[in-house]
Amino acid sequence: MACHMIDKRKYGPPFSEVAARYTGDLTAIDKLAAKIKEGGTGIWGGKTSCLRNRW
Ligand code: HEM
Repeated sequence: MACHMIDKRKYGPPFSEVAARYTGDLTAIDKLAAKIKEGGTGIWGGKTSCLRNRW
């Protein structure tokens, strides 16, 4: 993956930490799907954003 890795921070948070953060959060799928589609920032404290991903 260009921007994210499983267990190390790259441009975005590692997916292992994303999984840990949302474990048990029943709204996570909708929230993360929206973030992946629309991009966004503000959750992980970095200066960069998750870019919009439209496939
Ligand atoms: C150009 C490529 C990408 C860059 C530079 C990028 C960067 C980032 C950054 C900086 C964040 C933290 C945003 C925050 O603090 O709220 C983030 C979060 C995230 N990104 Fe990306 N990302 C990219 C592509 C992708 C792709 C292709 C996926 C999924 C297939 C993805 C899934 C996620 C998820 C699930 C989060 C966590 C969202 C949250 O906790 O609200 N990203 N990304």
